[in-house]
Amino acid sequence: MTLLEAVDVRKRYGNVVALDGVTLAVAAGEFVSIIGPNGAGKTTLVNLLSGQSAPSSGAVRFKGRDVGGVGPVRLARLGMARAFQLVHVFPALTVGETIAVAVVSRLGRGRRWLAALAHDRAVWEEVAEVAEIFGLGGALGRPARTLPQGDKKLLDVASAFALRPELILLDEPTSGVSTADKHAIMEVLVGAARRVGVKAIVQVEHDMDIVFGYSDRIVALQQGRVLADGPPASILADESVLAAVVGRPPAGAGRVR
Ligand SMILES: Nc1ncnc2c1ncn2[C@@H]1O[C@H](COP(=O)(O)OP(=O)(O)O)[C@@H](O)[C@H]1O
Ligand SMILES: [Mg+2]
Repeated sequence: MTLLEAVDVRKRYGNVVALDGVTLAVAAGEFVSIIGPNGAGKTTLVNLLSGQSAPSSGAVRFKGRDVGGVGPVRLARLGMARAFQLVHVFPALTVGETIAVAVVSRLGRGRRWLAALAHDRAVWEEVAEVAEIFGLGGALGRPARTLPQGDKKLLDVASAFALRPELILLDEPTSGVSTADKHAIMEVLVGAARRVGVKAIVQVEHDMDIVFGYSDRIVALQQGRVLADGPPASILADESVLAAVVGRPPAGAGRVR
């Protein structure tokens, strides 16, 4: 079943054509990575897929509905969430409060101040549950900005999970953390997706070990177009795609039969 699709999407910024006719579909059960060199259009594509901006032409559909430019709040209600780097937006909040922002918005209690939610047991039970899934249960009262970098990343992802989405969109979930932490983050993320029933994950990721280690499918962009779209083995088998998009074979590529 197709959850999310882009159909012949174009996006211009003045004279710049950031996306030039991109078509792709994400089905339930898939982990899809979007890769490509700088300027290929990855962030633009994620912004379109997450309803953040509208395509200049073409359509973005989520569960069959046109969601071009509908905005993150309506899209979250339909079942899609994107990690928003809330740790950067609200550095003074505690870990618990950061997750609570997402829980509160999902439960439709967004008009009340956090202080008024101090005794809202449903909110804090859910915050504790999400924190526990992401290994942050012991850090609920800690200011988010004081977390190690890897835990900040997990907190951002946890906030997106707190929206209880069917599909989750992540823009470089492991950027800025050590290689060991990257794998730990992905293990937690994939495990959490299974536990809370997330049906599909779409990520933009630069680290090719992560991309090739976790994806069911890889979509390679170059200059605003889809250069390749297929399972990791087919991407690895195409030297011209690797050269254009990765710049070099990923570590371990030689071991693939
Ligand atoms: N807001 C914008 N205004 C003008 N040009 C933009 C804007 N956003 C992106 N672009 C251009 O669109 C192209 C794709 O950018 P982007 O989606 O950020 O690529 P990536 O994330 O793959 O590095 C680039 O040429 C970039 O300069
Ligand atoms: Mg980008």
